[in-house]
Amino acid sequence: MFEQKIRPRRLRISEGVRAMVRETSLSVKDFIYPLFVIPGENREEPIPSMPGCRRLTVDKAVELAKKVYDLGIPSVEIFGLPEYKDAEGSSAWDMKSPVQRAIAAIRKAVPGLVIVGDVCLCQYTSHGHCGKLCGEMVDNDATLPLLQKVAVSQAEAGADIIAPSDMMDGRVAAIRAALDDHSLQNVSIMSYAVKYASGYYGPFRDAADSAPQFGDRRGYQMDPANAHEAMKEVALDIAEGADIIMVKPALAYLDIVRRVRDRIDLPVAVYNVSGEYAMVKAAAANGWIDEKRIVLETLTSMKRAGADIIITYHAIDAAAWLKG
Ligand code: PBG
Ligand code: ZN
Repeated sequence: MFEQKIRPRRLRISEGVRAMVRETSLSVKDFIYPLFVIPGENREEPIPSMPGCRRLTVDKAVELAKKVYDLGIPSVEIFGLPEYKDAEGSSAWDMKSPVQRAIAAIRKAVPGLVIVGDVCLCQYTSHGHCGKLCGEMVDNDATLPLLQKVAVSQAEAGADIIAPSDMMDGRVAAIRAALDDHSLQNVSIMSYAVKYASGYYGPFRDAADSAPQFGDRRGYQMDPANAHEAMKEVALDIAEGADIIMVKPALAYLDIVRRVRDRIDLPVAVYNVSGEYAMVKAAAANGWIDEKRIVLETLTSMKRAGADIIITYHAIDAAAWLKG
């Protein structure tokens, strides 16, 4: 009889043994939950392309932030819809805008929650691009002082971490310098270092009303075909003073996450973006997939690829599922 000495199935024999040899763990402590804040009071608006997510007035956002913290999720990232838009996106640094008010209110009501502020201009500009225009081009260097103002305003409101998502060259250095000038040395920068020009952002742009009014973002976000260039972006942002490096989107770019993780010694974050979320929710609503199973498997794959931090709209559901 053929003698089978090596049997990988031995270590799959029971849940107890499987748990002992499991290589990757997923925890509620890995998550950042994104919040969308709107002007007004006591109002919630469902986001049709992101079932389960809502745009909330500041008072409602504070309630949800408490719930998030009670579930054990350590952090929220704040996105906003402003009261007004103009060519420069000046509502992005208005201390009376929903984002700045939400940061301050959550800081006060839920002191233990880590608050991340998304720094960009596309939700605030009348043209929907992520920077200041010169003709139809986004003017890199003219945008930097505006991003500095946004970062300082969010940090002064009480953000722990500033997350620039605009993809202008030199913005991490510019933001670091502006924070330091305002005695905000202890505010971290989580850079969207590797951000691809992706079709997966579609539902977010509905949610945040931030679609460009003409053209697209390929002149500043990365070409999905490029991997070496990702390493160049990461190296630059580290040299400029980034504290955490992000790769976005997550699922179609796990090879990039692995490369970045193997190359650097900073924490690596991934953004499990709106289109990834919408696909799962749509298939689950049709009964075509098992949502809990798919979500936990997908989030685990991000950890396995090397991510330390996962920004995800699934965070609240996943927190409950991970409890058992
Ligand atoms: C703004 C921004 C975007 C996302 C996060 N910050 C959209 C974009 O760049 O068009 C996408 C998030 C998501 O799709 O969940 N620059
Ligand atoms: Zn933007």
